Amino acid sequence: MPHVSDSESMQSSYVAPGNTVAAARRDIEARFSANAMENPSTEARWLIAHILNVSYSDIWRQDDRVISPELATQLDTAVARRLNSEPIQYIVGQCDFYNTELVIGPGTLIPRPETERLVDIALSLYEPPGAIADVCTGSGAIAIAIAGELRPCPCIIGTDTSAAALEWARRNQRRLAVKNVLFCQGHLTAPLAPGAFALITANPPYVSPSEYRSLPPNVRDFEPLTALVPATASPDSDGADMVRDLATAAVTPLRPGGWLVCEIGASQGPTAHTVFEQAGWQSVRIERDYAERDRILCAQKPI
Ligand SMILES: C[S@@+](CC[C@H](N)C(=O)[O-])C[C@H]1O[C@@H](n2cnc3c(N)ncnc32)[C@H](O)[C@@H]1O
Repeated sequence: MPHVSDSESMQSSYVAPGNTVAAARRDIEARFSANAMENPSTEARWLIAHILNVSYSDIWRQDDRVISPELATQLDTAVARRLNSEPIQYIVGQCDFYNTELVIGPGTLIPRPETERLVDIALSLYEPPGAIADVCTGSGAIAIAIAGELRPCPCIIGTDTSAAALEWARRNQRRLAVKNVLFCQGHLTAPLAPGAFALITANPPYVSPSEYRSLPPNVRDFEPLTALVPATASPDSDGADMVRDLATAAVTPLRPGGWLVCEIGASQGPTAHTVFEQAGWQSVRIERDYAERDRILCAQKPI
């Protein structure tokens, strides 16, 4: 599924060996701008920093460094991948999330900035003691971010059906030496013990099949379908299938008074609100993101 034009894909080199880093940066930035990419300067620096194995903030100190043929080839490959719409986070293999830097790659969703709002809300609702679960954990982003904020850290369990995603979650846990977090394979809340949890967070797949078709290539062609569209969605689904499932599935593992905090699609607020109220949850509310879109469902299990 190449997105570069034929003439571009046949071009053998985006970075000339023997160029300085500053010249390479200008060339890559110009190439990215010509492809109407949103942040050409930031992305050019990010790719160069990754290939040179220096921090992003140190890239300025490398301006006069001459790029060896080996590094030019590696940079070329990285630029070609990016021009083919591959997300830059997959190319550099990492992304920032909340209070940490995660390793990620194909097989798991790239954590989004709006999910950081879910972490803030979840932390504000959590009342210790009591275990926490993060269902649909993916790279473990939410579970690991929460673990980084709580002292002492309670037991946190992350669940996901995808073995590939759980591998990334466990890699992040090992790399960041996160204690008290356990990742389990299973459907939604199935691996969770009844009545043990004070808080359940969830960022389930909530994209409808029709929305999926209009997603940009960097999402649709690279991020896992199962992380975006609920596996059970019918062709005319609104995408909220798993949000509805959680209205039932999250009841048993929560202790009375425990909270579910769940990310939803921007058009799913009224549906989610109604479904949870009708299912008997209390204090149901929909929080908005910084762009004023309905984004996060909060609901409390009756005491
Ligand atoms: C939108 S991603 C969220 C990933 C991560 N929590 C984040 O915020 O970046 C949804 C995740 O749910 C997982 N998933 C899909 N269906 C599931 C199910 N029935 N039970 C548990 N996890 C599921 C996918 O594998 C994917 O990792």
